[in-house]
Amino acid sequence: MKAAVYRSYGPPEVLKIEEVEKPDVPDDGVLVQVHASSVNIAEWYGMTGLFLARIGNGLAKPKNIRLGADFAGVVEAVGKGVSDFKPGDEVFGGRNGAYAEYVTARKAIALKPANVTFEAAAATPTAGITALQGLRDYGKIKPGQKVLINGASGGVGTFAVQIAKAFGAEVSAVCSTKNVEHARSLGADHVFDYIKEDFTRSGQKYDLLFNVNGGQSWSAYKRVLKPDATFVLVGGPRTPLIGPLSLLLKVRVGMLGASQKFAFFIAQFNREDMNILKDMLAAGRIKPFVEKTYPMTQIADAMRHLGAGHAQGKIVVTMGANGKR
Ligand SMILES: NC(=O)c1ccc[n+]([C@@H]2O[C@H](COP(=O)([O-])OP(=O)(O)OC[C@H]3O[C@@H](n4cnc5c(N)ncnc54)[C@H](OP(=O)(O)O)[C@@H]3O)[C@@H](O)[C@H]2O)c1
Repeated sequence: MKAAVYRSYGPPEVLKIEEVEKPDVPDDGVLVQVHASSVNIAEWYGMTGLFLARIGNGLAKPKNIRLGADFAGVVEAVGKGVSDFKPGDEVFGGRNGAYAEYVTARKAIALKPANVTFEAAAATPTAGITALQGLRDYGKIKPGQKVLINGASGGVGTFAVQIAKAFGAEVSAVCSTKNVEHARSLGADHVFDYIKEDFTRSGQKYDLLFNVNGGQSWSAYKRVLKPDATFVLVGGPRTPLIGPLSLLLKVRVGMLGASQKFAFFIAQFNREDMNILKDMLAAGRIKPFVEKTYPMTQIADAMRHLGAGHAQGKIVVTMGANGKR
C-alpha cells in the first residue's frame, strides 16, 4: 500500500509517498481502507522536528517514519474478537500512521453517519475530540456560561464554537477579519476581530476562556476572567523549540496566587468520545468545515497550507488513485 513517510525532520518536502507493507488485521481490531485523512498541528510539529517531538521520536531523525492521525474509510476486514463492526462499514477515527491507504483501528473508531462525507468525517477526530474534552472535562462547561474561544477559526476552534453552543453556552469567538462571518455562521453569539479590536479591553468577563490560538499576557487575560473562571490552554503561538508550551509557562507563572483555575491537557482518543462526535455529526449539531481538500500525492501542499497558520477550519487529504476512491 502507499503511505506518506518522512526519513528526516524538515519542511513539507521531507514527506514522500512510498510503498509500505499493508498491515495485518489485528485480532481485536479492524482493517480500514482509508478514503480521507486530515492534517493537524501535532503532525506539523512531528514533521518539522520541534524539540519536544524529537524527545519522543528520535533526536537526529524520526524513528517512526509514518505520520497522520485522523482517518475515514471503509472496514475491509475485522479481527476474530470483533463483533461491533463488519466489512463494508463506513467508519472514522484516530490512529497513528493515518496518511496511508490502510490503517488498523481498535479503540478510537466509530461508525460514520450516512449524512456525513468521508472528507468531513476525516476532519473531525483530533480537532473534535480536543474541543470536546477541553470544554467538557477541563473547562467543566455549563449551560448559560459565558465562554470565550480565542482562535475560533481553525481546526479546533471551529469545533469548539459549535460544541460550546451545543452545551448551551453564550459563545464569544476571536478570529481575524476574514473569518468573522464564518464564526457567526458556526453559532458564535459575539465575534471579536483581533485585527481591529483587543478582546481583553472589551469590559466583558467570562466563566471560561478556551485558548486555542493567540497568546496574550496573563494580566491581559485576567481582565476578562471572572474570579472563579477557568482558563483552558489548548494551544498558542508556535515557538520553535517548545511550540505552544511557551504560553503555558508564561500563563502559569503569571497566575501564581490567582483565584482562577487553570488547565492544560493533551486530548486522548477513545471510543466513547468518538461515539459522541458521531451522534453530534448525525444530528447536525457539529458541521466540520473543510477549507480545502488535497489528493494524497499533494500531502506536502496540505502541510504547507496548515503550516502557514491561517487555515480556515480543516485541511483534508484524500487517498487512492488521483486522491479519489
Ligand atoms: N492540547 C491538545 O490536545 C491539542 C490538540 C490539538 C491541537 N492543539 C493545539 O491547538 C492549537 C490550534 O490547533 P488547530 O488545529 O486549530 O490549528 P489551526 O487549524 O492551524 O489554527 C489556525 C487558526 O488559528 C487562527 N489564529 C492565528 N493566529 C491567531 C491569533 N493571534 N489569534 C486568534 N486566532 C489566531 C487562524 O485564524 P485567522 O486566519 O483568522 O488568523 C487560523 O484559523 C495549536 O497550538 C495546537 O498545537 C492542542
